[in-house]
Amino acid sequence: MKKIRQCFGIVLWLIIVSLGCNPVQSVDRNNFKTCEQSSFCRRSRRVKPGQSPYQLHLNTLSVGSSSISAELVNYNNLAKFKFELSAIKEETFRMKISELSPIRPRYEVESALVSEPELDTLKIIEQTADHVTVQAGANEAKVFAAPFRVDLYSHGQLVISSNARGLLKFEHYRKKPEPKAEEGAGAAEEAEAAGEEDIEADPGAWEENFKSHHDTKPYGPAAVALDFSFVGAHHAYGIPEHADSFALKSTKNTDPYRLYNLDVFEYELWNPMALYGSVPFLIAHGPARTVGVLWLNAAETWVDILSSGDQTVVSSIVNFVSGSDPTPQVDAHFISETGIIDVFFNLGPRPLDVFRQYTKLTGTAPLPQYFAIAYHQSRWNYNDQDDVRMVESKFDEHDLPLDVMWLDIEHTDNKKYFTWDHLRFSQPTEMTQNLTAHGRKLVVIVDPHIKRDGSYFLHNDAESNGYYVKNKEGRDFEGWCWPGSSSYLDFLNPAVQDYYAQRYSLDNFKGSTEDTYIWNDMNEPSVFSGPEVTMHKDCVHHGGWEHREIHNIYALLNTKVTFNGLFRRSEGKLRPFILTRGHFAGSQRYAAVWTGDNAADWAHLRITVPMCLSLSVSGISFCGADVGGFFRSPDEELITRWYQAAAFQPFFRSHAHIDTKRREPWLFGEETLGVIREALRKRYSLLPLWYTLFREHELTGAPVMQPLWAQFPTETDTFAIDDEYLLGDRLLVHPVTEAEASSVTVYFPGPGQIWYDMDSYEAIHVSSKHSGGRTEQIPVNIRKVPVFQRGGTIVPKKERIRRAASLSLDDPFTLLVALDVNGTASGTVYIDDGRSYEYKQGKYLYLDLKFEGKTLTSRFIDKNSKFPTKAWLERVVIIGWPSAVSKARIESKGMGTNVLEASYNSAAHLLVVRKPAVSMAEEWTLSLL
Ligand code: NOJ
Repeated sequence: MKKIRQCFGIVLWLIIVSLGCNPVQSVDRNNFKTCEQSSFCRRSRRVKPGQSPYQLHLNTLSVGSSSISAELVNYNNLAKFKFELSAIKEETFRMKISELSPIRPRYEVESALVSEPELDTLKIIEQTADHVTVQAGANEAKVFAAPFRVDLYSHGQLVISSNARGLLKFEHYRKKPEPKAEEGAGAAEEAEAAGEEDIEADPGAWEENFKSHHDTKPYGPAAVALDFSFVGAHHAYGIPEHADSFALKSTKNTDPYRLYNLDVFEYELWNPMALYGSVPFLIAHGPARTVGVLWLNAAETWVDILSSGDQTVVSSIVNFVSGSDPTPQVDAHFISETGIIDVFFNLGPRPLDVFRQYTKLTGTAPLPQYFAIAYHQSRWNYNDQDDVRMVESKFDEHDLPLDVMWLDIEHTDNKKYFTWDHLRFSQPTEMTQNLTAHGRKLVVIVDPHIKRDGSYFLHNDAESNGYYVKNKEGRDFEGWCWPGSSSYLDFLNPAVQDYYAQRYSLDNFKGSTEDTYIWNDMNEPSVFSGPEVTMHKDCVHHGGWEHREIHNIYALLNTKVTFNGLFRRSEGKLRPFILTRGHFAGSQRYAAVWTGDNAADWAHLRITVPMCLSLSVSGISFCGADVGGFFRSPDEELITRWYQAAAFQPFFRSHAHIDTKRREPWLFGEETLGVIREALRKRYSLLPLWYTLFREHELTGAPVMQPLWAQFPTETDTFAIDDEYLLGDRLLVHPVTEAEASSVTVYFPGPGQIWYDMDSYEAIHVSSKHSGGRTEQIPVNIRKVPVFQRGGTIVPKKERIRRAASLSLDDPFTLLVALDVNGTASGTVYIDDGRSYEYKQGKYLYLDLKFEGKTLTSRFIDKNSKFPTKAWLERVVIIGWPSAVSKARIESKGMGTNVLEASYNSAAHLLVVRKPAVSMAEEWTLSLL
């Protein structure tokens, strides 16, 4: 039997590898389930909107200072549940529904949350036989007993209703029915009377087959589902990861969006199929309000979306409640295979409020080291240490900045992670030191599957200590992955967490240094021989939990442990850097995420924007896509446009499949090399802005890459934009993503707003007479990257481009002061050592810059923080300045007063003040004379 399994594995592996070489393949949909092929999804999706059988027993109501709870009963089968509603700090409610006395515990996700959420106070303000209303600050929750429904109000406005469509479904655990001798009509009637006809009639309820795989489902049906109606919302966003538009589409005539971490080979674009990550966080946005819903469940989940216009009069909650004219509304229906219903409602009201509220729960991305936001060079694979040395030196030779070289799986000894190929990487420490001598770093891949090889220490340790995930028979689960037969570490086990974190210590990981950082790939987990290329759901983890219950957090736990390992490696001194493919809510606390195996074509370049925006609004701000496309080879135009686009996306890495042609920038023609160099230099010159935005993300949860509606929430024209975005509130980016483009159509938001072209400083004024923005054709040639600075903002940059970003920390700053219609501008700059945690002890500078009248000031935002930077102010460029000025004065305590030269370009309305030469570590005032 074992032999057969192995043969099967080898054949499958060969198929996969050979597909990898075939440039025209695309996803084989047959490898992945549809909702209809998945029994729990099918059952839950068949529930018809209407009267819910669930009723709350208000006579069991118990009231605490922050929460209420009561018994909830399904009147079709009399199953009992516990309903709990709590008030959480920051305009948030939490609702939990779980079985009152389950015959087996149900899994509750903790690892996604930073900590137990801080409770707020709540009080009952109304109680009748039919409902109870509680209040927490300006928010209220009206909980109806029969049928059960929860309406959330903010400042008196109904914003979210749960179970308004009556789709609540909670399949309680039950004993497996004895097989009946004869399925007579009587049995079916009995089941129907008990409201269980769907389960009784579903052959997949107690065991299920998919292709050649059998799921034994030892605990039977256990699905949970609930609907939410978002009143006033025009669109819903989030619930990554899907290769689809940013604004979620109605799924009325398609499958629901699927959340199930999967390694999808050659994924297709513009559809709701599952991908590598699952963040069950949805944002609903309309001009008046933005809200968020976190559906905290780690099992396979499907989400149906109904857009405005899809609802019937009956299903429109507003009409139902107020009888008023149709109001825009989006409905979502979450369906999970198991777990409990645990939902957080972030009530906004503005997008930035929701980002703050959501990241208060699941965390923000910690400030990365400076190198991590610079440029990364990867491919599967750099052949050997000489190749690494050669590539790195070519970057210098061609005057291309570079911070990180990456090594994929071939650097290991036969795919045994934490080891090196003895021949090709015989001197890993020297190789790394050569990089670090030039200010650069190394990233190596460490996947979670472990080669079953008796000579591999990791396998021996894991096998003898019982560290592997078990199969349904209780033996170590074996699957097929890169090394061949593999087993998978069980990151739910605290002993594994400790053991694995220790593997990263310099003593244990021979050949690594403090400058070696980590790439956690294949952590969905990918199992080539498993159902849907992943682990069997009836595998068992520490604590007896089925893989089914925790599947979507496997990658989160993997990166959490890696993060702890890197943190410990430097004794808490250096900030870890990790890239992960699989992800869940909260992954941002540990790792950057990239969008996996894309392809070298224009559509894949285009989709990087909506994919990263979806991740960004769902807390995962540090996002990027393989530059150039993973599969196939880009032509010169595509690679050029890809570098230009990615230079303005948070994570910037070139990567390629092992079978593609080498594509380092100098392998293209002179012109392409030149334009790529310009794109890289653009990125490097703006690193001070990127770094400031990352720090501000860490503080406030505001994504680095933002949809236009984050800053212009009432502007409906921004709601469905997929081809442009903002960096913080300062830059508008519209990458060129079409072949042979001679212009792009840019939407400039904000009535009365001015946008300045970052290359020409040309001003684009948006009229204040209309409520919306302005659309313009912007001509482009191959050098053009359409990026615009928002009038009223100040952007910090550095004009000197070093070979690596980490060498530029002491370099002087240039400030781009872009004036708004009132002739004012403001901005911030964040500065620290770019690598350590000392900023947590106040070793940083956070500057508040303001321009008003004729004066630019720099003031410390946190008066007690200090950082002895050598960086100074080299240049101030005032964009949109109306008239000639030839002198300016700079004053600071340390430097006294100096008079400076200023030069004015009247055609471009540009005033440049050169060499103020004041230290950035001082407060100063610059006045135009
Ligand atoms: C899959 C990853 O998505 C890809 O980036 C990587 O090159 C291969 N695994 C090999 O490790």
